[in-house]
Order: sequence, then C-alpha cells, then structure tokens
Amino acid sequence: MAIIELKNINKYYDAAGDEKLHVLKDINLEVQKGEYLAILGPSGSGKSTLMNIIGCMDHMSDGYYCLDGELIHEAKEKDLVRIRNEKIGFIFQKYHLIPTYNVLQNIVMPLLMRGMTLNEARERSVDTIDMLGLGQRITHKPNELSGGQQQRVAIARALVGEPAILLADEPTGALDRNSGLEVLKLFKRLNDMGNTIVMITHDADVATHAQRTVKIVDGEIFEL
Ligand SMILES: Nc1ncnc2c1ncn2[C@@H]1O[C@H](COP(=O)(O)OP(=O)(O)OP(=O)(O)O)[C@@H](O)[C@H]1O
Ligand SMILES: [Mg+2]
Repeated sequence: MAIIELKNINKYYDAAGDEKLHVLKDINLEVQKGEYLAILGPSGSGKSTLMNIIGCMDHMSDGYYCLDGELIHEAKEKDLVRIRNEKIGFIFQKYHLIPTYNVLQNIVMPLLMRGMTLNEARERSVDTIDMLGLGQRITHKPNELSGGQQQRVAIARALVGEPAILLADEPTGALDRNSGLEVLKLFKRLNDMGNTIVMITHDADVATHAQRTVKIVDGEIFEL
C-alpha cells in the first residue's frame, strides 16, 4: 500500500523579473507502507523543498499528493495542521528541541498538543524514552546531552505519536561519524519494527543504510 503518492508535482519560486525558478520538475514518487527510502541529492537540488512539501509545510505549485489517504493538494490550512501533527514525525539536522524543556517535557509536548491527558502522554513517552536508551536522561535539558543523544530525543519525539511516516532531513548532518552510525542503526531498527521512513541526504554513504534510494538532481527524481 502506498502511504505517499506524489504525481506530477511542480514547485516554482518567483525570481527577479518575469523569470520563475522551476525548483521541482514533474516529481512522481511512491513510498510504500513500511518502506525506508533515501532521497539523495547535491546542495540546491530541491531536497528541502521536496521535504517541506512531503511534510505538508509548504504548498506545491501544482500536482497531486496523497498522504495516508488524505488529499494534500486540496486540503485546507486547518486540516494540514492536524495532518502534520498526526501523520508526520519530523527529524531535523539540528534536532530542534526546546532548550528550556527537559527530555520528558520535549517528548510529551506533541501528545499534549493532540489532546492526550498528561498521564497517558507521560506513560507513552517514558516507554519510548526507554526503548531509545535514554532512561537515565529523562530530566536532562538538551544542552546537558551530546549531539547523538539530542538526536535520539528528537527521534523519540517524532516517534511517540505513532506517525504514518518519519521524515528526516540530514539526520546525521550535525553528528560525528559514530553518533551518526548510531542514529542510522536506530532508523534500521525502527524500520524493522514497521515504521515508514523517508530520509533526505546529500551523502551517498548515509543513503546506503536505507532500503531504497532515489536521486534528485536539479529538481528531477531518478530511480536508481
Ligand atoms: N523560498 C525560496 N525562494 C526562492 N528560491 C528558493 C527558496 N527556497 C529554495 N529556493 C531555491 O530552490 C532551489 C532548491 O533549494 P533547496 O533548499 O530545496 O535545496 P537542497 O537540495 O535542500 O539544498 P541543501 O543540500 O543545500 O540544503 C535552490 O536553487 C534554492 O536557491
Ligand atoms: Mg536542504
């Protein structure tokens, strides 16, 4: 079953004069439930633009996008807010944790935003924290953790709401080699457990950890 279906997606940006910048060119891409896909491309190829569209954070100029049964190209802004919160677990290069919150508070937050009770949210968060080996760090603030640990907290936060997809933009980009490999091992384990993962990277070695890789070059997708 396709969980992501992109058909003929184009994205244009306004440029100087009458010119338009054609950043995504007729993108067709399917991701099946349970797949682990890497989108590999050089700087400026359109990776973040595509990630923002897959993550329902930016609008495509035209095309068809179905995410887990929701027609994104015709969804209203208030539906997109709900869809982002329920269906997508985001993981960024720089973690994006809330610095004044401890580990548990950072992970509980998206569940509270969905209206879960504090007790239930706490219970689920603690389970996820334990699964990711962060049990000893539950009351630490982000600046008291290593980069690899902060990324694991970000992964726990992405995972805890049981999203339809995990969407990661250069998840190892800020990490040293070993911490990066730990994160990639964790992704493999989460995929083996049934999670669908889309990972964006410019690094061909990182992409080899995924099940399947597509290339993006100058706004066009190529299957490898
Ligand atoms: N808001 C914007 N307005 C105009 N042009 C933009 C905008 N955002 C991105 N672009 C252009 O779109 C192209 C693709 O950018 P994008 O950020 O998607 O690349 P990327 O593959 O993520 O690169 P990197 O690996 O450096 O992060 C670039 O040429 C960029 O200059
Ligand atoms: Mg980018």
